[in-house]
Amino acid sequence: MKKAEIGLVGLAVMGENLVMNMESKGFTVAVFNRTAERVEKFVSGRAAGKHVIGCCSLEDLVANLEKPRKVFLMVKAGQAVDGMIEQLLPLLENGDIIIDGGNSHFPDTIRRTQYVESRGKLYVGTGVSGGEEGALKGPSMMPGGSPAAWPYVKPIFQKICAKVEDGSACCDWVGENGAGHFVKMVHNGIEYGDMQLICEAYQLMRDLLGLSDGEMHQVFKEWNETELDSYLIEITRDILAYQDTDGTPMVEKILDTAGQKGTGKWTGIAALNEGVPLTLIGEAVFARCLSAMKDNRVEAARAYQRVIPAFDGNKAEMIEAIRQALYASKIISYAQGYTLMRTAAKTYGWNLNYGGIALMWRGGCIIRSVFLGKIKDAYDRNPNLNNLLLDPYFRETIAKLIPAWRKAAAAAMQYGIPAPAMTSALSYFDGYTTERLPANLLQAQRDYFGAHTYERLDRPRGEFFHTNWTGRGGDTAAGAYNA
Ligand code: 6PG
Repeated sequence: MKKAEIGLVGLAVMGENLVMNMESKGFTVAVFNRTAERVEKFVSGRAAGKHVIGCCSLEDLVANLEKPRKVFLMVKAGQAVDGMIEQLLPLLENGDIIIDGGNSHFPDTIRRTQYVESRGKLYVGTGVSGGEEGALKGPSMMPGGSPAAWPYVKPIFQKICAKVEDGSACCDWVGENGAGHFVKMVHNGIEYGDMQLICEAYQLMRDLLGLSDGEMHQVFKEWNETELDSYLIEITRDILAYQDTDGTPMVEKILDTAGQKGTGKWTGIAALNEGVPLTLIGEAVFARCLSAMKDNRVEAARAYQRVIPAFDGNKAEMIEAIRQALYASKIISYAQGYTLMRTAAKTYGWNLNYGGIALMWRGGCIIRSVFLGKIKDAYDRNPNLNNLLLDPYFRETIAKLIPAWRKAAAAAMQYGIPAPAMTSALSYFDGYTTERLPANLLQAQRDYFGAHTYERLDRPRGEFFHTNWTGRGGDTAAGAYNA
């Protein structure tokens, strides 16, 4: 058999599906897994008769690869990746390429790129999104790492990835070292936000408007034919229609505690590090944390015995208000996520293509939607757009959505239905579009108790003042540095 164009290590569900995908696109793939039975089972089962070479060791895998060798790791993020790199390096030649397709934390990918390059090899850290089905039929891929590796992996990646209607690939070079994994991390954060917004809409319809799962299935079906057309709305529609063996909705039998593997949390931490208000994703992460405190919530619910008043408005109008609120909040979430990417790009020296990122997310991944096409258009109009909210299309869209957005958010507050993502998005919007915030008072407070100084409206920026507010303090000011 001819040598393989690529090797893959880690035959869990994503790994296997990626192999099947690559093979179906004409590539020969050599495979290895830590537990040898898995290799055996795969090559004699799903991959039988295909251009897949089962390997019994990493040495064997490396020996079966065309040069420059490309080894795609689909192992658990963290230590397992470092362990695999250590084992592979002595087996590879200069110019060979190690690819990490897991959900690795971007600082690790920055470190690994530098390390692998220092050993004469090339490194690619790539986001792969789309779950099992995406891996098999075409995921969205976000590669970064050693630029010299891109010409070698590009033909494979762009062949196996998802394509949008006009045939464009949902995969392009993102940037150096950790850029690909950073963008994948933000994708996941946005995924958390989108999911939370949908869950809030569901809770408003269920607990405030009293809609049944069947009725909500119908609502999501209709929403999927509007600007909200997306994978996550689509699966929500289908989940709501799914019945358990007893004929009742399956979703209502699931314990209301959300899990998380950490990528949303990392996005929030990155935003705090960059000083970027990423409120919606932050709320989405905290909403999962709050959901996980089930026992505490049960106790508090019993202690307060809160009753949600009967809804006395027009149901159909409120459903439409919730839809518009979801859309407006989603725009805020993406505006915040893109601001984080722009800010981090400066910190890490990445030259990110924001329209290109929207295109990569347009198909194949979990957040894929028609809406991402609008973001692509906005960055095509102005590649240096400072904030998505300042793009003319989004400005006009938000302006139209505001009344319904306020109506839905106010109803959530008034009736006592938690909607942290939807309402904090509105607060962000109101803050972002306010010329004069109350931070003058905050600065006065800081100066009062800690001589932290302030700038003045009537003086140039960069001049700092201190007032002896009580007459007891001195004239010595503290430093005016900002963290
Ligand atoms: C994707 C997803 C995926 C993610 C899982 C689990 O793009 O295919 O983002 O990478 O890891 O959906 O995420 P949580 O367990 O944190 O919800």
